[in-house]
Amino acid sequence: MMVFLPVGKASLFIVVHLVLVLLTIFFSFLGSASASAEEAAALFKWKSFSNRDNPVLTSWILQPRGANSSNNISKDIASPCNWYGVTCINGSVNRLNLTESSMNGALYNFPFSSLPNLEYLDMSVNALSGSIPPQIGNLSKLIYLNLHGNEFSNEIPHEIGRLKNFQTLDLNDNYLTGSIPEEIGQLRFLSDLDMSSNNLRGSIPSTFGNLKNLRHLYLSDNILSGPIPSELGYLYNLVYVDMGFNNLSGPIPSELGYLYNLEYVDMGYNNLSGPIPPEISNLTSLDFLNLSDNNLSGLIPPSLGNLSNLFNLLLRHNQLSGSIPKELGNLMALDLLAVGHNLLTGSIPPTLCNLSRLEYLNLDGNNLSGHLPQGLCQSGVLNYLSVVDNMLTGPIPRGLNNCSSLQIASFSVNQFTGKLSELFGVFCPKNLEGLDLSNNNLYGELSANWGRCQNLTTLRIAQNNISGRIPPELGNLTLLRELNLSSNRLTGEIPKELGNLKLDILDLYSNRLTGEIPKEIGKPT
Ligand SMILES: *[C@@H]1O[C@H](CO)[C@@H](O)[C@H](O)[C@H]1NC(C)=O
Ligand SMILES: *[C@@H]1O[C@H](CO)[C@@H](O)[C@H](O)[C@H]1NC(C)=O
Ligand SMILES: *[C@@H]1O[C@H](CO)[C@@H](O)[C@H](O)[C@H]1NC(C)=O
Ligand SMILES: *[C@@H]1O[C@H](CO)[C@@H](O)[C@H](O)[C@H]1NC(C)=O
Ligand SMILES: *[C@@H]1O[C@H](CO)[C@@H](O)[C@H](O)[C@H]1NC(C)=O
Ligand SMILES: *[C@@H]1O[C@H](CO)[C@@H](O)[C@H](O)[C@H]1NC(C)=O
Ligand SMILES: *[C@@H]1O[C@H](CO)[C@@H](O)[C@H](O)[C@H]1NC(C)=O
Ligand SMILES: *[C@@H]1O[C@H](CO)[C@@H](O)[C@H](O)[C@H]1NC(C)=O
Ligand SMILES: *[C@@H]1O[C@H](CO)[C@@H](O)[C@H](O)[C@H]1NC(C)=O
Ligand SMILES: *[C@@H]1O[C@H](CO)[C@@H](O)[C@H](O)[C@H]1NC(C)=O
Ligand SMILES: *[C@@H]1O[C@H](CO)[C@@H](O)[C@H](O)[C@H]1NC(C)=O
Ligand SMILES: *[C@@H]1O[C@H](CO)[C@@H](O)[C@H](O)[C@H]1NC(C)=O
Repeated sequence: MMVFLPVGKASLFIVVHLVLVLLTIFFSFLGSASASAEEAAALFKWKSFSNRDNPVLTSWILQPRGANSSNNISKDIASPCNWYGVTCINGSVNRLNLTESSMNGALYNFPFSSLPNLEYLDMSVNALSGSIPPQIGNLSKLIYLNLHGNEFSNEIPHEIGRLKNFQTLDLNDNYLTGSIPEEIGQLRFLSDLDMSSNNLRGSIPSTFGNLKNLRHLYLSDNILSGPIPSELGYLYNLVYVDMGFNNLSGPIPSELGYLYNLEYVDMGYNNLSGPIPPEISNLTSLDFLNLSDNNLSGLIPPSLGNLSNLFNLLLRHNQLSGSIPKELGNLMALDLLAVGHNLLTGSIPPTLCNLSRLEYLNLDGNNLSGHLPQGLCQSGVLNYLSVVDNMLTGPIPRGLNNCSSLQIASFSVNQFTGKLSELFGVFCPKNLEGLDLSNNNLYGELSANWGRCQNLTTLRIAQNNISGRIPPELGNLTLLRELNLSSNRLTGEIPKELGNLKLDILDLYSNRLTGEIPKEIGKPT
């Protein structure tokens, strides 16, 4: 290029300048090369403590420095950049990913101060133990830390609050104790926080209200207590909240109604009390709500019927009262509805028949009365139906006879009446596996047609008023494992065909059966 320039001051200047540029590049290369040599030495030393023979880390070796130096400078200088799990930027370690690498030992001697450019540290799913050292706060550029699935114990160091660039912090599934450091509330860029499945105690710091970028918050399966801070209502970006399996108490803050991006809320298995705030129905993106196993009282807010994306609604094991709001029949996306074990009264709203995607319906253990709606299976997708232990009356709807999607149906401990011969036995839903009609007021005879319910594994019709003989066709139910016809008014002999079955439970107690127990029954199979 310079050849074409006129000789003079200008070209001399260009040549000098070019030399300077080349020298700068050369020295900066040497600089980064020696930086990486220092990083290599530090990482190698850490490996040597507990993971010297780790087969995953065979590439972690220091090359001899200066030995028979060729012109190939990179051969002479140890660099970790080609080591397993290491990614460099400009010759310095930027990412260390040792997930599922059979790592042992601890982080006490991890070279926190020697990795100034580390941004991503993934040590998940290993057998690392001991404390998370406070020196972790020295990794000033760290934006991602994943230690999930290890055996870390003791408290989470407060110094973690110094990692101002943090976006992801995953400590899930360890043995961490103590309380959640409130300094975590200083991590303004945090978007994913997972501390679930540890032994953390104390309350959720109200400083969490500062985590304006938080999208995923997982705190489930700890021993957290105290209230859910109302400050969480400031976390407008929150999409996913899991606080289940703790000991949180007090009310569900109505401020959660501001979190318009929420899609998933699990606060089940705590000690939350007070009402379900009607503001929850402002969360139009919500597709999953589990508030089961708490101490919630009051009504199920009819406005929940506005949550048009709701897929799962679980409110079981609370003290909710009043009736099931007919508005729940507007939840067109609903696949699972579980409101069992509350104090619900009134009848089951027929609008539930409009739920065209409903596969699972559990209303057990309430004080529901009236008839079961006819069209519960009109959508043809109902798979599980359980209304055990209520005060339901009238016949079991014939509409269920040809509900071919139905696999499990439990109607026990109610006051259903009607003739057994008009029930399932006549038109057997072809996928029915478990049927419990026990403890009702059903009467009539067991039809021979029951023998066509080929997929039945459990049949319970105990404690009713059924009469007549046990049809030998029951011996055709080759998958049947449990047959309970106890406490009825059955007569005649026990058919020897039952001996064809591999029953685990056969209960015919308290009937008017005659003859002997056929020797085929109970023969080893
Ligand atoms: C220098 O060493 C590196 C790494 O060992 C190798 O990829 C490269 O081909 C070598 N270059 C020369 C000129 O030998
Ligand atoms: C790598 O170093 C060069 C030269 O110093 C710099 O311009 C560039 O921004 C660096 N790249 C990164 C990703 O840090
Ligand atoms: C680490 O590697 C695993 C599997 O190769 C990958 O799924 C994970 O995203 C990586 N972690 C980071 C922080 O790059
Ligand atoms: C590293 O962190 C520890 C504990 O937080 C601190 O005492 C020490 O000064 C830090 N060292 C460096 C080099 O930053
Ligand atoms: C919920 O929405 C109603 C209107 O639908 C509004 O008046 C109320 O302020 C909202 N509440 C919250 C907590 O966003
Ligand atoms: C909430 O419900 C889901 C779906 O049934 C379940 O997986 C989860 O464990 C439940 N959470 C609690 C805390 O029970
Ligand atoms: C429900 O609340 C009552 C009254 O506050 C309390 O006595 C009881 O222990 C709570 N139940 C559970 C499961 O925490
Ligand atoms: C549940 O919370 C109530 C106060 O709301 C408290 O009286 C009770 O002891 C708590 N129960 C348990 C099991 O922690
Ligand atoms: C929510 O539901 C309530 C009661 O069902 C209704 O009055 C209200 O108009 C609904 N709000 C919205 C925003 O759809
Ligand atoms: C919902 O169900 C009710 C009662 O069963 C019925 O009157 C109504 O027309 C249904 N609505 C829709 C949208 O299907
Ligand atoms: C039993 O279930 C299978 C699989 O769901 C189904 O294909 C079959 O038709 C059922 N049997 C009867 C007799 O309906
Ligand atoms: C069912 O059992 C009866 C009597 O045990 C027998 O006669 C009949 O052939 C069987 N039906 C079928 C479809 O297997």
